[in-house]
Amino acid sequence: MAEPKKLYIKTYGCQMNVYDSERMAEAMGGAGYTEVATPAEADMILLNTCHIREKAAEKVYSELGRFRGLKDANPDLKIGVAGCVAQAEGAEIMRRQPLVDLVVGPQSYHRLPEMEAKVRAGGTALDTDFPEEDKFELLKSRPKARRAPAAFLTVQEGCDKFCAFCVVPYTRGAEFSRPAQRIIDEANDLVERGVREITLLGQNVNAYHGAGPKGGDWTLAQLIWALAEVDGLERIRFTTSHPNDMADDLIEAHRDCAKLMPYLHLPVQSGSDRILKRMNRSHTADSYIRLIERIRAARPDLLLSGDFIVGFPEETEEDFRATLQLIEEVRYGQAYSFKYSTRPGTPAAERAQVDADEASDRLHRLQTLLTGQQREIQESMVGRELDVLLERAGRQPGQMVGKSQYLHAVHVTAPDAAPGDMVRVRVAESVTNSLGGVLI
Ligand code: 5AD
Ligand code: SF4
Repeated sequence: MAEPKKLYIKTYGCQMNVYDSERMAEAMGGAGYTEVATPAEADMILLNTCHIREKAAEKVYSELGRFRGLKDANPDLKIGVAGCVAQAEGAEIMRRQPLVDLVVGPQSYHRLPEMEAKVRAGGTALDTDFPEEDKFELLKSRPKARRAPAAFLTVQEGCDKFCAFCVVPYTRGAEFSRPAQRIIDEANDLVERGVREITLLGQNVNAYHGAGPKGGDWTLAQLIWALAEVDGLERIRFTTSHPNDMADDLIEAHRDCAKLMPYLHLPVQSGSDRILKRMNRSHTADSYIRLIERIRAARPDLLLSGDFIVGFPEETEEDFRATLQLIEEVRYGQAYSFKYSTRPGTPAAERAQVDADEASDRLHRLQTLLTGQQREIQESMVGRELDVLLERAGRQPGQMVGKSQYLHAVHVTAPDAAPGDMVRVRVAESVTNSLGGVLI
């Protein structure tokens, strides 16, 4: 048998890229590749890239430059760019960085093995199509390898919302939902391989409207209820959601479905109605706050997470203060905040930009407020009993690390436990990014 070829994949950006990288590794497994941990060992390097902000995209080019020495040392080394930079920039990547042999957009990963054969034969390969065929079916996992206890499962891709700052509708394309039965089958397969917790992924996951097994479209809540029937699957999460797609049945699932975890990532982006309108968000600060009230009425202990952008074009100090006020009102247990980054081709790129120092100052103030809230909410866990799904061994002997139902990392001494075990823990301390607890 031929020596397996070696593949190194580096993943940037969101959780969907993590899921996609796993699928690509499996597809390349079928073409005789095994994954390795460093680029120096590889016959093929794939960068799975992110285009959401300028910094993320620029990182890719600096990383590519660093592979020059490796390619000089190993002329058979092939370099590929996948993900959203590939989709957005296409052939331009090869012009800017001639080291690149292959460019593949997120909708064409199932064609990777053919593309690999083409570059092995000495050519280059470019595919940024949005093909008709179902890439998920064609990327179906062949090896039944054991999996870690927590896994991602993409159920929906793309976005039709066109927020004025965002490249996703262009890089990931129009909204598409996978048929429910395929997702249920994939969940069963994951559980057989050791998975206990599944996070359903989509750029606009709560807009899910996949075909149901008996005809008619299913909502995300219907899908969650069906997955809750999967024996051995203990926890379900989903991300990322849009406020306008928080349907009543999904809020009710947060109340009634024991396997659905009390955590919700619900980006608001800004607390100023003037800016929300310019962002094309089609919700107001007030409608968002009222929505949060309804969700919390259904699930009072729900931990809320959000995304925020500061320095969006024309944002004034007054607009920014409205964001701070919304945060004060809502209280977030987790948050991601960004300085607005101009994305060519998006509507906001044409508008008057906020002064860079002013934007940095706002980001700093915003993050001070958010980290304070996160710390308080994390500290409020001390003394409480939490359910922890153990994921891996910790640094200390006998220690294990897992996640609480609220997604806090929890350390616990549990010498007899194994990854995948669900344990009850009393929280004893809150440190920077995790909780420490003792087994009950
Ligand atoms: N600039 C800054 N942040 C952005 N995001 C999306 N596009 C941009 C941009 N152009 C943020 C939003 C989104 C998260 C994934 O990234 O907050 O929710
Ligand atoms: Fe981008 Fe999310 Fe807005 Fe869609 S809803 S355009 S993915 S920020």
